[in-house]
Amino acid sequence: MSVKYIEDEKKFILETENSCYVMQILYGRFPVHLYYGAKTDLSGMNYVNPYKSFSPYFESYGTEYSPDVGMSEYSYFGCGDFRITPLRIQNKNGDSVTHFTYRSHRIFDGRREIDGLPFASADKSTQTLELTLEDSVSGCEMQLYYTVFEKENVISRYVRIENKSGSDVKIEKLMSLMLDLPSCEYDMISLYGAHNAERSFQRVPLFHGVQSVMSRRGASSHQYNPFIALCSKGAAERSGDVYGFNFVYSGDFLDEVEVDQTCGTRVQIGLGSENFTWLLESGQSFISPEAVMTYSSCGLGGMSSNFHRFVRKHILPPEPFERRPVVLNTWEACYFNIDEKEMLRFAKSAADAGIDMLVMDDGWFGARNNDRAGLGDWYANAEKFKNGLKSFADNVKAYGIKFGIWIEPEMVNPDSDLYRAHPDWCIQCRGRESMLSRNQLVLDMSNPKVLKYLKDSFAKAFDGVGIDYFKWDMNRHMSQVGSPALAPERQGETSYRYMLGVYDLYRWFAEHFPDAMIENCSGGGGRYDLGMMKYSTQIWTSDNTWPKKRMKIQYSSTLAYPTCVMSCHVSNPKNICENPDELRYRWHVALNGALGYEMHLPNASDAIKSTVKEQVEKYREYEHLILKGEFHRILSPFDSNYYAYYFTDSDYAEFLLSFEQSYGESPVRLALALPEADIGAMYRDTVSGQVFEGSALAKGITVKTSERDPYSVMWHFVKEK
Ligand code: DGJ
Repeated sequence: MSVKYIEDEKKFILETENSCYVMQILYGRFPVHLYYGAKTDLSGMNYVNPYKSFSPYFESYGTEYSPDVGMSEYSYFGCGDFRITPLRIQNKNGDSVTHFTYRSHRIFDGRREIDGLPFASADKSTQTLELTLEDSVSGCEMQLYYTVFEKENVISRYVRIENKSGSDVKIEKLMSLMLDLPSCEYDMISLYGAHNAERSFQRVPLFHGVQSVMSRRGASSHQYNPFIALCSKGAAERSGDVYGFNFVYSGDFLDEVEVDQTCGTRVQIGLGSENFTWLLESGQSFISPEAVMTYSSCGLGGMSSNFHRFVRKHILPPEPFERRPVVLNTWEACYFNIDEKEMLRFAKSAADAGIDMLVMDDGWFGARNNDRAGLGDWYANAEKFKNGLKSFADNVKAYGIKFGIWIEPEMVNPDSDLYRAHPDWCIQCRGRESMLSRNQLVLDMSNPKVLKYLKDSFAKAFDGVGIDYFKWDMNRHMSQVGSPALAPERQGETSYRYMLGVYDLYRWFAEHFPDAMIENCSGGGGRYDLGMMKYSTQIWTSDNTWPKKRMKIQYSSTLAYPTCVMSCHVSNPKNICENPDELRYRWHVALNGALGYEMHLPNASDAIKSTVKEQVEKYREYEHLILKGEFHRILSPFDSNYYAYYFTDSDYAEFLLSFEQSYGESPVRLALALPEADIGAMYRDTVSGQVFEGSALAKGITVKTSERDPYSVMWHFVKEK
């Protein structure tokens, strides 16, 4: 049982393998928070209310309970808690004040599903606590959900509101997760960035006041990832307390943290309020997206390992093929200059190199000869593909490889047949000029007619073609957010309804093309989030394929997401790199995730072609570790000139260790330790042929840094029988 209720103390205990979460119903009415952290002795754990002057209290309970200072399970705008609020509902009286109190609870196996949204799937050990609360003045009922993923040390949170008031109410803010912690002695980790520079690592001490990261771009964004962590001051890779948080959603979000007057910390994860309101008619209910949290006493590595196992088991779709295909993608080599003849040269060169799939990127459809036209017109360009897509795909497959194709369903160019026929099918505010970005507008995915058009077009274009893979791109953010299909009082729902439409289309693709996998992309990793991971086997990590920058992006991506999601290409855009050593460095850096290539392979030199072939063969020896093994970071490229990490299997019989140096330097010696190595065993490095004692690996293998630029080393240790 991972959820327990102690009736005489009115306490709920949520337990995972290595963590524990405790709450209590104070005075039979107020759900207050007691503890979240490592397993500990719970006897005598009681609510503390460090009352301060100026804090409101109810006359009947006195200063023993003030929502302003104690730790709550959830809080309400205007109810005497002056900290950041997770909930604001404008009721029939016109004010937005609520105060919900406990009515009942239910503990059940599995979880409650969230209609229309991605959510973590339950397994046999998953249990859920449902707390039902009510607010008689607003006439609303609320359920707080806590779903416990025991083995992965993750607890997820989501909230349901039902309007029983007899009149309409407006939800103005509804956060999925609120957590009060008794201390503020934490650093906050967040991942900021930009296009081409996603997920830069930032660690700063919490300060008194509110600190937040958010997106109001209609996508989780390159600029801030929804993942954040709070860690104790000295927390490192393998030591220290770390709380990690994330959001199973791909649109606008808000992660906010406040350090309050009691030196406590409140964390909230959810939709935020800038691009979200929801008109809830009487008798209707609304359920928030799911947020997740984990705790580890084993540092950042412990947190990552919890999240990696959770995402693999409860978020990602099943692997579509027996083995993940190594792809040859055409974008950086060809841009829009593609046609059947050229693509078949790519297909042949891919097959010759042992690559599994040709991915034909942008440029194959409508009048798409550049980025100014064609988006929305989903039929093969007849000049480029004279015999149609099916005949072309058959010719690709005749080389014995798979066939993947690029799409950008959510967008339209003003220069397209679709836009000319339906200018009102775009996101737009009545009376305002819509702005372009990459010459495109955003389709109104909240409009069912748009979804129907897209499903019909894609079915017509792809049915029977035998497509094995879709690269689903999204290349602009939303401005002037509004929907011509929604009434004025529902305009604040546009951004959220847009995401419901996007997820609906993702599910349609999965059902309509059950044999194909989806790689998600948003100008690189602009939607690198748990919502997209629910439907995408992998995500294009970044358009930045320059290894020295890429290694930083990859390092930070591993904090919250498993490496099997990370699509990593060896890129050599104009075949500038003719040096196999340099290509080896690019390959080493790409071995952090699922391998692919982005180069003009047909025109490459024989030396490069045979290097690629060798690399693909070698990758086959390692891919079980990279895609399915445990992952551990050793050195951070944000702290130094190096990135070092390793993969290992569950028996610690194999280790793939990687050391990557950004720039040449005056050499120093570093020790890279593999603490899980069996100290009584011998390990052979299949790269150098050398044999090492397990105890030496556990202590640390020495690497000498190099004056050379670029420089990297890999070891593949296999335990001797
Ligand atoms: C942005 C993607 O990140 C690229 O890989 C490529 O697919 C282009 N879009 C195509 O327009």
